[in-house]
Amino acid sequence: MDIRGKKALVIGGAGFIGSHVVEELLKHDVAEVIIYDNFTRGSEDNIATALNDPRVRVFHLGGDILHSDILEEAIKDADLVFHLAALWLLHCYDYPRSAFHVNVEGTFNVLELCVKHNVEKLIYSSSASVYGDAIKSPMKEDHPFNNNNFYGATKIACEQFCRAFHHRYGLDYVGLRYMNVYGARQDYKGAYIAVIMKILDRLQEGMPPVVHGDGKQSYDFIYVSDVAKANVCAAISDATDDFYNVGRGVKTTIKELAETILKITDSKHEIEYQPADRVFVTSRVGSTRKAEKELNFTADIDLEEGLRRVVQWRLERDGRGFE
Ligand SMILES: NC(=O)c1ccc[n+]([C@@H]2O[C@H](COP(=O)([O-])OP(=O)(O)OC[C@H]3O[C@@H](n4cnc5c(N)ncnc54)[C@H](O)[C@@H]3O)[C@@H](O)[C@H]2O)c1
Repeated sequence: MDIRGKKALVIGGAGFIGSHVVEELLKHDVAEVIIYDNFTRGSEDNIATALNDPRVRVFHLGGDILHSDILEEAIKDADLVFHLAALWLLHCYDYPRSAFHVNVEGTFNVLELCVKHNVEKLIYSSSASVYGDAIKSPMKEDHPFNNNNFYGATKIACEQFCRAFHHRYGLDYVGLRYMNVYGARQDYKGAYIAVIMKILDRLQEGMPPVVHGDGKQSYDFIYVSDVAKANVCAAISDATDDFYNVGRGVKTTIKELAETILKITDSKHEIEYQPADRVFVTSRVGSTRKAEKELNFTADIDLEEGLRRVVQWRLERDGRGFE
């Protein structure tokens, strides 16, 4: 699909990944980008730069996906919808009913209204959480749903609703299963990536970084602007009614992650190991082949470069260096 001149609605567009999707869309000559967000976790700061572009605005009536009458006003003029609004993993763990309402019912509202208003394509943010702990590695898209938590359950349910809306009503959609996303504007709430911000906090205080557990848990870290790029690739591609991993396909342990941060910040500290927090998944790396082939997507930013960007963003934000 040629997305030039299209009107895009980014639901969850003031959040960590959504705000980068907004910026990525602007590079592709879209006519308009409307941000629909209830700001429970998103922020004005995240979208301050994007709002300098006259094509971008925050939807004027509000932005909750549970308010389907207001959501309808936003969706009815959109050609493309990117749906990223969701409660995060630990929130779903503590508040399963809210997880059901926001992630499942909210997504159902989005799907229903996309059909009603003939949206040309929906890009749905799913998650590698659907796979749970890896049974095979790297995980291909046909890896079993080995998930056992509420967050993953909502993502599996929504993937199924996407399929059902496609088969019943012809809705064109692509679902993206992000691996572990990190980058500028991330906060402390990511279940695995929060370690990056916590290590940088410790280094700002002149203290050694802490890693919980033995540091051998391994993940597939992908920089946030690459995830934004994958959203746009998915919109442009001919792919429909399918799900794709969005990762780099590179296995990195938490220990390696911490060591890379120490290297980039020129820190002489040694990692301090402490007992593990709640760990949901201990090993997860995704195969990148299907997204490469069918979405024409490959990640551009390796871990060291991505972490340099995070460090730079923290320096600019805090005005304080790392020891
Ligand atoms: N960050 C990751 O590593 C990761 C990994 C896999 C999947 N995902 C998925 O990607 C999407 C974006 O994640 P993120 O990390 O940017 O999270 P985020 O919390 O920063 O963004 C979600 C946005 O949705 C908004 N929101 C929440 N409830 C809403 C509601 N009821 N109505 C409207 N807006 C609402 C929040 O204010 C926030 O701005 C989510 O669907 C998430 O499940 C993220």
